[in-house]
Amino acid sequence: MQSVVLEDGSDFAAWRTAARQLLAAGAPPAQVQWQAGGATDLFGAGQPALPADAPAAAVGRVPREFMSLADTVLAHSDPRRHAVLYRMLWRLTHGERNLLQIASDDDVAWAHMAAKAVRRDMHKMKAFVRFREVDGPDGAVFIAWFEPSHDIVARVAPFFVRRFTGMRWSILTPLRSAHWDGETLRLQAGAEKADAPTGDALEDLWRTYFANIFNPARLKVRAMTQEMPVRYWKNLPEAALIPGLIQDASARMQAMVDKAPTMPQLRIPAPVKPAAAPLPAGSLAELREQARQCRACPLWQPATQTVFGEGPEDARIVVVGEQPGDQEDLAGQPFAGPSGELFNRALAQLGIDRAGLYITNTVKHFKFEPRGKRRLHARANAQEQAACRQWLAAELDRIRPALIVCLGAMAAQNLFGGDFRLLAQRGQWITLDQHTRGFATVHPSYILRLPGEDARAAAFEEFVRDLGMMRELAG
Ligand code: URA
Repeated sequence: MQSVVLEDGSDFAAWRTAARQLLAAGAPPAQVQWQAGGATDLFGAGQPALPADAPAAAVGRVPREFMSLADTVLAHSDPRRHAVLYRMLWRLTHGERNLLQIASDDDVAWAHMAAKAVRRDMHKMKAFVRFREVDGPDGAVFIAWFEPSHDIVARVAPFFVRRFTGMRWSILTPLRSAHWDGETLRLQAGAEKADAPTGDALEDLWRTYFANIFNPARLKVRAMTQEMPVRYWKNLPEAALIPGLIQDASARMQAMVDKAPTMPQLRIPAPVKPAAAPLPAGSLAELREQARQCRACPLWQPATQTVFGEGPEDARIVVVGEQPGDQEDLAGQPFAGPSGELFNRALAQLGIDRAGLYITNTVKHFKFEPRGKRRLHARANAQEQAACRQWLAAELDRIRPALIVCLGAMAAQNLFGGDFRLLAQRGQWITLDQHTRGFATVHPSYILRLPGEDARAAAFEEFVRDLGMMRELAG
C-alpha cells in the first residue's frame, strides 16, 4: 500500500504532482491511500508518503477537461475525492481515454456531482458574503464572515479581488481566510465567527435598501429559499427582515396596487453631468445629422464617420458604451464588433431584445493609432470626452429613459460623476432623478481581454447577472 499525505487537501497542484509520481511508479489506485489535513480516504495506516523527488509521469495525454474537473472537485469536502480522481486519472491513462464521455460511469457521475456542489457553493459565496466596515489603524477595512460547505475560499477570492480591488478586506471562514490589502491577496488559516464584527451602520443601510427593493408582488418563497438557502440567513443582515416581509407581503401588495407608482427612495446623489453649452436642438434624427458634422475635437478627422446612437426614440433603457472601435467606425453602428457580440450574447441569455434598447457611446468617434495596416484602439482623453458630452446629454434629454446602463468606467464616470468607482460600485442602483435610475457594469472588452477561459466565463456570468437588472424594464 502506498500512502500519500497532502498537507492541503484542496491544492490542485499538490494533488497533480503526487498523482503524476504515482503514475510514474505504476501504483494502481487500489494500492494508494490518500491522506489530507488529518483526513484519510481509507482506514488503517499506510506506507510512508512519497518522497518529494519521486519522478513524475508526463500526463500530457490527459484531456484538459479532466484537469479542470479535478481542480474543481478537489475543493469538495468529501475525503474520497483524491482517490476517485486518481482512479479516473489511472483509467484515462490505461486504455479508457473516452472515460469522461461515459456519463453513467460511477466515478464520472460522482465527479460531476461533486463539481456541481462546489460550483454552487462558490456561487453562494459570491452572492451572500456581506462585508462590515471596521476602523483599522490605516483606515477602513471590510470584514466578512462566511460558512461555505466546501474549501472554496482560494478559488473564489480572485472574484472579490476583481470586484473590490479598491477596498481592503478580509473574508473569514472556518477553514481558511482571505485577506486583500489593495495589492496582495493572502490566504491564511481559518477563523472563528467571533473574529468577525457584527452589526454596523453599513448593515442598517443595507437592511433599509433590502426592505425597499423587496417587491411583495414578486414573492416566490420557494424560489427565494432555494436561491438564498436558510443556512446562510444567519450571516445576512437583511435576512432578519425576511420572515416579516413574507408575512406582510399580501397586505403590502394590495397597498402597492392601490398606490400610484413611485421611484425608490434610496438616493445616491449623482446627477447626470450637464453639458457645458446649451444642448443641441432637434429630434434624434436631427441630432444624428448634426453630429455627423461635429468638429468639437480632432477625432472626426481620421475617423470614417460619426457613430451615433441607435434604437427607438421611446426606449425605456439607454445603454451607454465608451467609444466606437474599428468595426463600429466602418459600420457606423455602436457595438457592431466583438464587444457587441458579447453584449448580444448576454442579452440573448437574459431574453432581452436588443431592438428595444437605445444603444450609444460616450464618445462618438473611433480613436486609434495606425500600426501598419492596423488601427489600434486608443482611449479618448478627458477633452475629447468633454467635447462629446453635448451629444450624449442631448440623446438622453430627447429619450428621457427610465434606466441608463453604463458599460465601462468611461461611461459611468461621465454619467454618475468622476468619483464613481466601477469595481466597487458595479451593479448598484444609482438614482439620477425622479424619472431615471442607472447602474454600471464592466465593459465587454474587459471580459474579452481577461486571460484564461475560466476567468472569462466567470466574468461573463457576473456581467449577465448585472445586466439582469434591466430585465424588469426590458419587459
Ligand atoms: N466599445 C464601445 O464602448 N462601444 C462600441 O460601440 C464598441 C465597442
